[in-house]
Amino acid sequence: MIEATGLTKHYGRTVAVDNLSFTVAEGRVTGFLGPNGAGKSTTMRMVLGLDRPTSGDVRIDGQHYHDLHQPLRTVGALLDAKWVHPNRSARDHLRWLAAASKIPRARVDEVLDLVGLTGVAGKRAGGFSLGMSQRLGIAAALLGDPRVLLFDEPVNGLDPEGILWIRKFMHRLADEGRTVFVSSHLLSEMALTAQDLVVIGRGKLIYQGTVEDFVEHATESTVLVRSPQLDRLRDLLRAEGSEITEITEDGDALRIGGVASAAIGELAAANNIVLHELNPQVGSLEQAFIQLTGDTVEYRTEEHRSEEHGAGEHRAGEPAGNGEVTSG
Ligand SMILES: Nc1ncnc2c1ncn2[C@@H]1O[C@H](COP(=O)(O)OP(=O)(O)OP(=O)(O)O)[C@@H](O)[C@H]1O
Ligand SMILES: [Mg+2]
Repeated sequence: MIEATGLTKHYGRTVAVDNLSFTVAEGRVTGFLGPNGAGKSTTMRMVLGLDRPTSGDVRIDGQHYHDLHQPLRTVGALLDAKWVHPNRSARDHLRWLAAASKIPRARVDEVLDLVGLTGVAGKRAGGFSLGMSQRLGIAAALLGDPRVLLFDEPVNGLDPEGILWIRKFMHRLADEGRTVFVSSHLLSEMALTAQDLVVIGRGKLIYQGTVEDFVEHATESTVLVRSPQLDRLRDLLRAEGSEITEITEDGDALRIGGVASAAIGELAAANNIVLHELNPQVGSLEQAFIQLTGDTVEYRTEEHRSEEHGAGEHRAGEPAGNGEVTSG
């Protein structure tokens, strides 16, 4: 488990990470999502004790990285796959790392096998493709058989086969009960890889929770309704309440926002209205991501505005009403 509390990092005047609090659970893959420059790598470096927080705190299984007795046996990380001596073979690179951490040599062949590099273990790592380099980096992270694993953009630049391999591998590591924290700016990929998400924008937490909830809360989902008695249905929906945010008319169909499909179905049944179609349309994850991270700038303006006028207006679709989502 990883626990960050009020984690903050300033580089001069740049606020790379801003009062970030989140937890990463064991036995699950947690995606760490944010656009370029959001502060993902900086956060990961602070988890690993490579960067000192300006303020705040982050712990791995309750301990600071620097207090871990055997760091490599507790936490493994892949931050930069190209970090190998180009003329060393894959096996020698891993042996060198193992020796430095008093890890038995036999473990090197185990991890080479785990990542499918046994056949090229004697080849110089400098000649490896990006996919092979990523596998070697993952092998290095696994050397100490750690319970906690961090991967910074592991699928960047990989071909579909490489991406699929990494995805399955992450699932396997989580199924073994490990904590798997993997960063990406590709939401579509994270939707398939991760169960939980920590989403940041401009160093601030935007969302923490499951992938499912993220989509549900972040997208403005609508319901498509077809009925031969649309006029009656429209009147009833309007009379039902203020919650309908969008109604567009398209022949015999209505697109309704702000009301669940079940409620529409029940309303129709109670009033003997025939429905030909009742179709909930969930927005795509990609839309949700752009909506939320793209809003980071807007949130600031909104904040300033509400400070000036002393009142914060609640916008439609704003996730701040959900306790798990913060607008910073
Ligand atoms: N060593 C550093 N010195 C100064 N500024 C830095 C340093 N490292 C990161 N930054 C700045 O901190 C911010 C966050 O950078 P970071 O690399 O953590 O983002 P990221 O989410 O990993 O982005 P990417 O998706 O591009 O990898 C950026 O504005 C970046 O320019
Ligand atoms: Mg980065």
